[in-house]
Amino acid sequence: MIITIDGPAGSGKSTAARKLAARLGIPYLDTGAMYRVITLAALEAGVDLESEDMLTRIANEANYELDLGPTHIRVSLGARDVTEAIRTMRVNNHTRFIAASPGVRRALVEKQRQLGRQLGSLVTEGRDQGSVAFPNADIKFYLDATVERRAERRLHDFLADGEEVTFEEVLANVDVRDRTDSSRIVGPLTVPAGAVHIDTTPMTIAEVIETLLAHLRQAGLWQPNGAASK
Ligand code: C5P
Repeated sequence: MIITIDGPAGSGKSTAARKLAARLGIPYLDTGAMYRVITLAALEAGVDLESEDMLTRIANEANYELDLGPTHIRVSLGARDVTEAIRTMRVNNHTRFIAASPGVRRALVEKQRQLGRQLGSLVTEGRDQGSVAFPNADIKFYLDATVERRAERRLHDFLADGEEVTFEEVLANVDVRDRTDSSRIVGPLTVPAGAVHIDTTPMTIAEVIETLLAHLRQAGLWQPNGAASK
């Protein structure tokens, strides 16, 4: 069973995907982590972030690994664990160059499909999972919330990680990423055809999970007393 969850930064999709996968006992894939690790590799290599050739090369050749489980994702680059290093504001401010590269997107979408085939069942989240990577997913969700609510959630994550940022900085970053994510030519952020659209602005994460499960149940993909039925 493939479940896709797309949406903008701070819409709650990462937490929702992780918790939903844990509830179903299947792995989850945070595709933002893939764009982030390529961003980190490109920054560390000091390459021109507008060079399509260099970025494509890094996406194809960087030695990174994702360790996926129902409750965790760990990311390594070479011998280093970079799970935390890919979440810094520096990486945030540069992902848009990497996300706009057609060669990078091709390489990462191919890897996402490979993981889907290999794992069989997956909750995968990002910007293009229901539209490009898995258009035939069993069920697709699109989560959204107001930009202020999304920036508040991201600020909370940064402060919890000990990063010193202001609400205004986070709001500006979320706003720029929204615009570049929605306007890029390849794999833009969009509501995938057939997706269930959920506004999470007034919801707690527990309410989001209950809503997702209700849709899975309605689609015959899940029973309250059991695990995933596919
Ligand atoms: O979801 P997250 O904020 O971790 O994603 C980091 C960046 O990676 C986003 O700003 C977006 O530009 C990019 N991304 C993407 N396609 C995906 C997932 C993330 O372009 N499927």
